[in-house]
Amino acid sequence: MSKSESQFRNGYRFSRLQEHGFGAVLEFRCADLDSQLEVFAQQADSILARFYAAHGLMVVKGLQAIVERPQALVELSRCFGAEVEDYHQTLTSPRFFHESVNEILILSNAEPCNHPPPEKPAVADSSWLPTRFPDQVNWHTDQSYRRPPPDVTLLLAVELPPRDQGQTLFADCTAAYAALGPKQQRRLEQLQGIHAPSWIGRSRAAVENGEPPLALLPHQLPRRQPLVRRHPVSGEKSLYICEEKQMDFVDGPIAGLETGPQGEGAALLRELLMHATREEFVYVHEWEPGDLLIGDNRNLLHCATWYDAARYRRLMWRTTVMGNPGAEYQGEAKTWIPGDGSDVMAGMENA
Ligand SMILES: [Fe+2]
Repeated sequence: MSKSESQFRNGYRFSRLQEHGFGAVLEFRCADLDSQLEVFAQQADSILARFYAAHGLMVVKGLQAIVERPQALVELSRCFGAEVEDYHQTLTSPRFFHESVNEILILSNAEPCNHPPPEKPAVADSSWLPTRFPDQVNWHTDQSYRRPPPDVTLLLAVELPPRDQGQTLFADCTAAYAALGPKQQRRLEQLQGIHAPSWIGRSRAAVENGEPPLALLPHQLPRRQPLVRRHPVSGEKSLYICEEKQMDFVDGPIAGLETGPQGEGAALLRELLMHATREEFVYVHEWEPGDLLIGDNRNLLHCATWYDAARYRRLMWRTTVMGNPGAEYQGEAKTWIPGDGSDVMAGMENA
């Protein structure tokens, strides 16, 4: 028996994702999907405990077989939250819908999704991957423009570009908050960010370019979120922010502070993004086939990076789960469900 095999217990093993900092790796002894799902279901408490101890980031290896059985991704997602979200009922364009499973969102540069990668960062050394904002500008937390936002995102690698392209970055906003001074922590706890979909003409770039904001139905309006959230499982506080595409620069980005791209709110957001994406808070995931990356939206930022979309296809399947957003959202109804039964995306057809 080899040394690594001896580390398996009950058909699985954990390891650290990086020597220092957050994140965990889960591997199964068996490559058969039914056995993997069985271990997952039987050991769910232990897996969840490790997930939260690792500040909400876990990579599960060797799940290629899910591509042949997409419903298995939904089953597995259910371990991380009471409700696996139906993307036909969220503020999501139909071009992102999976062909047969409503709970899976597709992210791909291929038809019909046509989701392009972020632009290649303009840095002198093209072999260097910048991670800190604003050299890397795509940092966000999923669907923060609704209340409550989703708890956890699960991302399965289906088709990948070469290893040094199309990475996913994560920033530990629990550690970032803890590193702030007490005076700054107290100030931020009193403030709320105003989050908005990237396609409604309220991003920093849209406002700077003078684009007219889209007329919105009540359920599509930007939403206020606390700048500091207390995690409902760990009890730890974290920064909760998004980069400038997914914040409202018409009425924000920070409620109560001077609005607009040159305002006091924009300056504070920029300072917080630069702080949260400092090297010591960031993990870079180099994808391997069959990786399932699970990240907690309540306390992590994440970010996709550039890949050569003219040469390579990249296809990821995503699920999100909700049901435990924390005390700040206690008893709230879903803001994004229209009260009159109309289409969730009405008027947003070009998103
Ligand atoms: Fe995302």
